[in-house]
Amino acid sequence: MPETITKLAYQAFQNGKSAFSLGHRTLATQLRQWLRPELQFELASVDDDFLAEVTRRREALLQVDWDEAEAGIYPEALLFDNPWDDFFQYYPAVVWELPQLWERILNKETQVFDAAINTQGFPRYYLQNFHHQTDGYLSETSANLYDLQVELLFSGSADAMRRRVLAPIKQALNRQVTLGDRQTQRVLDVACGTGRTLKQLQGSFPDVSLYGLDLSPAYLRKANQLLSQASGSLPQLAQGQGEAMPYRDNYFDALTCVFLFHELPGPVRQQVIDDCFRVTRPGGTLVICDSIQAIDTPELEPMMANFPVLFHEPYYRDYIQDDLTTRLETAGFTGVTTQAHFVSKYWIAHKPA
Ligand SMILES: C[S@@+](CC[C@H](N)C(=O)[O-])C[C@H]1O[C@@H](n2cnc3c(N)ncnc32)[C@H](O)[C@@H]1O
Repeated sequence: MPETITKLAYQAFQNGKSAFSLGHRTLATQLRQWLRPELQFELASVDDDFLAEVTRRREALLQVDWDEAEAGIYPEALLFDNPWDDFFQYYPAVVWELPQLWERILNKETQVFDAAINTQGFPRYYLQNFHHQTDGYLSETSANLYDLQVELLFSGSADAMRRRVLAPIKQALNRQVTLGDRQTQRVLDVACGTGRTLKQLQGSFPDVSLYGLDLSPAYLRKANQLLSQASGSLPQLAQGQGEAMPYRDNYFDALTCVFLFHELPGPVRQQVIDDCFRVTRPGGTLVICDSIQAIDTPELEPMMANFPVLFHEPYYRDYIQDDLTTRLETAGFTGVTTQAHFVSKYWIAHKPA
């Protein structure tokens, strides 16, 4: 009986987030039509079959999220983890920022940074207002609003999609039982952003040494705040590029990489995969989570067509046609398998022992 109540609570929690996201989108559209009627988006139309498919996929995601917690892959408490303080503190700022964002869209400004931000040393492909975010990934404000914006985009299911990396990571860690000269197993989250995936890993594998790498100092500071509040291993965070990581060869038992690849040009995707291969120990595993792709999910093509129209995502159209399995095999990974959950796709790849 308590399990039934917990499941109902989980469903209510998810449905509440989904309803809030829908309310936010309605509010944002009405405000835009009122304040900037000249800003119109040419969107692919969607029909009832498409909407039914989206609903079916979301329900399937929530079911597997529940089932894997029940199976002990991660604690049930993770299902309810939500940055409530940020939610209440920053939601007004998300709405307040909208007019600036519309102004930039109308002016076709996609690479604008506050004069106080030092953009030296970052790769050119990275200096973008991804999603039309003010200052891209390079300000504290952007780091504070990011998680909330992602939750609104994914109707409250961003963490449920991130959690799908946990089962393959658990399997990988169970396989790597010989520690040799190491005290603990090591897992790296590449492009860890504000630390949401690391928090799920921290809650699931408290004895594993966790590492996070990202290019954004502001996002790393935000991740540090989040992760230092929780119990379990304190992840070591480092600023760096996924294509030239500051770690020794064969250092990690497993790697995760969530929502990075659609924000990289094709050749950089290959470089990041190559460097992931270098730092993975023989017998180790890489798990990638990113957007679904047109090459295998044609039924959701309108969503994939509309995403880069509404959000600044300069490499997305190329990404959805990119064969990451071939890229992984080119790097040396073997036994690559894929999965899909809701609007995300997953690649699980192994470095030969
Ligand atoms: C869409 S966010 C995803 C963040 C996080 N993984 C999540 O689940 O929300 C993309 C992240 O990748 C980082 N990033 C982009 N290019 C990178 C690169 N070449 N090397 C390391 N981090 C990068 C950005 O700073 C940002 O934090």
